[in-house]
Amino acid sequence: MKTRSFTIIKPNAVAKGSTGKILDMIIGAGFTLRAVRMVCFSRNDAYRFYGEHIGKPFFDELVDFMTSGPSIVAIVEREDAVATLRELVGATNPANAKEGTIRKLFADSLTRNAIHASDSDENARREWSQWFAPEDIMEAEYNFPMI
Ligand code: CMP
Repeated sequence: MKTRSFTIIKPNAVAKGSTGKILDMIIGAGFTLRAVRMVCFSRNDAYRFYGEHIGKPFFDELVDFMTSGPSIVAIVEREDAVATLRELVGATNPANAKEGTIRKLFADSLTRNAIHASDSDENARREWSQWFAPEDIMEAEYNFPMI
């Protein structure tokens, strides 16, 4: 069954011009885009999005980073979306990320790790709801011949 996940191409990857390459990897892995937009996280946005990490030693650095420039947020769909996207994204710490994963290729550090991918179907829905209203999500099938 096709399911959906939520991803953020983070400010370091956007700033380096890697947005297209990362989206190409995601699409090349069989995902279709269901919604995509460029956003600038405010500090409030970062506190809300990463609420579970408030008080952890890396939290302030994470907020400073996520508010440092624009990010791309997207909803993506395929069979087993959450697990497949996390495999493609690689380990949170790029030092542990496998060859060929997005973090291995594009991350600069544990905080500046290029991309976020939701860790469950429930969290995916909660996370994308911060950025997308229901009418922003493409529900129609659109991979039909366009001629
Ligand atoms: P992400 O998958 O978006 O979830 C939380 C983010 O916090 C993580 O990616 C990193 O960008 C950042 N982070 C920084 N240090 C740590 C750490 N020690 N453990 C987990 N996440 C960290």
